[in-house]
Amino acid sequence: MTRKPALDHIGIAVESIDSGLAVYLALGLEVEGGEEVEDQKVRVAFLPVGDTRIELLEPTDATSPIARHLERRGAGLHHICFGVPDIRAAMAQLSGEGYRLLSEEPLRGAHDCLVCFVHPKSAGGVLIELSQSASHES
Ligand code: CO
Repeated sequence: MTRKPALDHIGIAVESIDSGLAVYLALGLEVEGGEEVEDQKVRVAFLPVGDTRIELLEPTDATSPIARHLERRGAGLHHICFGVPDIRAAMAQLSGEGYRLLSEEPLRGAHDCLVCFVHPKSAGGVLIELSQSASHES
């Protein structure tokens, strides 16, 4: 990785965005953008904070990974996401060092980003998302 990654966002699983939003609005954050990500079967809302964002994730389907997370652990912290300039290079480097990735190819995330997740079992218990913004896509 030539450039250092940035903390792109912190993903939080919620039963519903409407009710999950309340505490962040009370803290003075504002929603800037939301969409449905069909591949992940989630609806997301982004709330910028400093140079990063809170991402609230609400499942749209019982088979969504977020629905499974809510079942097992309830609402709460789900993942942290690092923005990387070249996701394929980052994936190759991590898997080359023995880290387990949840997909062999990048997936389509929110804002048409390319994303990939590192298995929490190989990342100290934290689900790590890597994201390459659409503007970096070649
Ligand atoms: Co995310």
